Amino acid sequence: MTAEEKLNKCYESFKDKIDFKPAVALILGSGLGALADEIDVKAVLNYNEIEGFPMSTVPGHKGRFVFGYIEDVPVVIMQGRVHYYEGYDMHDVVLPTRLMRKMGAEVLFLTNASGAANPDFSAGDFMLITDQIANFVPSPLIGANFESLGTRFPDMSEIYNKKLREIVKKTAEDLGIKLQEGVYIQLTGPNFESPSEVRMCRMLGADAIGMSTACEAIAANHAGMKIVGISCVANLGCGLTDTPLTHKEVIEAADKAAPLFKKLIRASIKNIYNEGLK
Ligand code: HPA
Repeated sequence: MTAEEKLNKCYESFKDKIDFKPAVALILGSGLGALADEIDVKAVLNYNEIEGFPMSTVPGHKGRFVFGYIEDVPVVIMQGRVHYYEGYDMHDVVLPTRLMRKMGAEVLFLTNASGAANPDFSAGDFMLITDQIANFVPSPLIGANFESLGTRFPDMSEIYNKKLREIVKKTAEDLGIKLQEGVYIQLTGPNFESPSEVRMCRMLGADAIGMSTACEAIAANHAGMKIVGISCVANLGCGLTDTPLTHKEVIEAADKAAPLFKKLIRASIKNIYNEGLK
C-alpha cells in the first residue's frame, strides 16, 4: 500500500465512524493534553480504532482524536501526537495532520514543549513560532507526491500564517499574557541536546528546540492549511543551565504553564475563526 492509499484508508475509517467537520485542527504537545478534556466534546475516536493509524507511545500523550467545540468553533484535537523518535516513518508522523486536513480543517494550530536556545528566554515562556528549521529531520514530502493534497515543490516562504500570527499576538496582549516570538528548530530526539548542539542551533538562528512540529507544518503547508504555532518553553537548553534535563521536568513545566497556555489557545482559536478565515 502506498502512503497515500494508507491515508485514504484511514480517512474512510474516520468517515465510517464520525460525522463531524472541523474548521480548526489542534495538536497538543507534551503536558498539554488536558485541554481536550475541557471542551464541549461531541465525539472521540481512538487511534487504535483507525485501521493502519500510527500509535503514540510516549507517557503523557493520549492516543485519540477529540471532536467538539471550543468557544463555538468546530475543532478536532489530536490528543497525543506521533513522534519521529518513536521509530515511525516520517509519512506516518504526518499522517494525522493530513487526515485532519481531509476531515475539513482549514487551520492547523500546533503546540509543543521546547527547550530554549535563546538565552533571553525563561522556562515557562510562550513563543509564537515565526518560522522554522526542519533540515535535521527528513522532509515528510520525500517520496511520491500526494497530488490530491498539494504540489510537488511547495513554497515555504510563509509557513506560519502572518495574519493568524497577528491575531494570536493581539489575543495574548488583550489577555496580558507575555508572548515571545522566534524560530523553532526540530531535531530528531529523543536525547536532549549537548551544550555544543544548543550553541549550534542558536548560531543557525533558532530560538527554541524541539522534537516535533516542523515536519507537521511542512505537511500542512503542502496541503494548503493555514498554520499557527505556539511553543511552551519548558526549560533552558543544555548549556544555558547547569542542571541536567529530564522528561519529568519538561512535563512539570508544561503542566505548570498549562492553565495560561489553555486560556491563550482557546481565545486565539475563537479570534482566528472569527477574523482569520475571511
Ligand atoms: N530540547 C528538545 N526538545 C525539548 C526540550 C529540549 O530542551 N525541552 C522540551 N522539548
